[in-house]
Amino acid sequence: MKQEISKYMGLLYEHGLTSSLSGNVSARAEHFVFISPTKIPSYRIRPADVSVVTMAGEHLEGKPPSSELPTHLAIYNAMEPSAIVHAHSRFATALSCLGGDLESPDVEGKHLLGRVPLIPYAEPGTSDLGAAVSHGIRGFKGALLQNHGLIAIGDNLEQAFIVAEAIERAAQLVFDLKVISRP
Ligand code: 13P
Repeated sequence: MKQEISKYMGLLYEHGLTSSLSGNVSARAEHFVFISPTKIPSYRIRPADVSVVTMAGEHLEGKPPSSELPTHLAIYNAMEPSAIVHAHSRFATALSCLGGDLESPDVEGKHLLGRVPLIPYAEPGTSDLGAAVSHGIRGFKGALLQNHGLIAIGDNLEQAFIVAEAIERAAQLVFDLKVISRP
């Protein structure tokens, strides 16, 4: 699992979904959560750096966990996903600042995502953000976090990554259409 966390943080960076120091990913395995460490550039997180915590947030192994651990734990404690990807990707973040839910304009995005709700702003790293996200994402595959970025969930890291990428693509299409259709 540590290998997977390191791999998907690298993929987020390679696919332009995150800058060096933003974004985090986690996966649940039984009573433990494996999560990317805080403040280590995404492209050089080694498996040994990956943080292991209990469901109550007690740090067991690796470097100190992501500052967004409260949000990851709030989701795992409220719902059944096995993996979470959070990214500050360019178009999803821009759209989250404009406000409003995201509806993918194309058929691929519609099928893959359905509606992507906007979760109202709460300070990053707080239990308030955790409460807002674990409430607002229920019934959806992912969400926009107002003035912040995106969050995606799945049965495994690959699924959550695919949803994160699809949210970014849908947000980019919305922007393309706004530009193309400007009078
Ligand atoms: P961490 O490095 O603590 O995971 O913070 C990055 C981030 O994206 C906060 O929202």
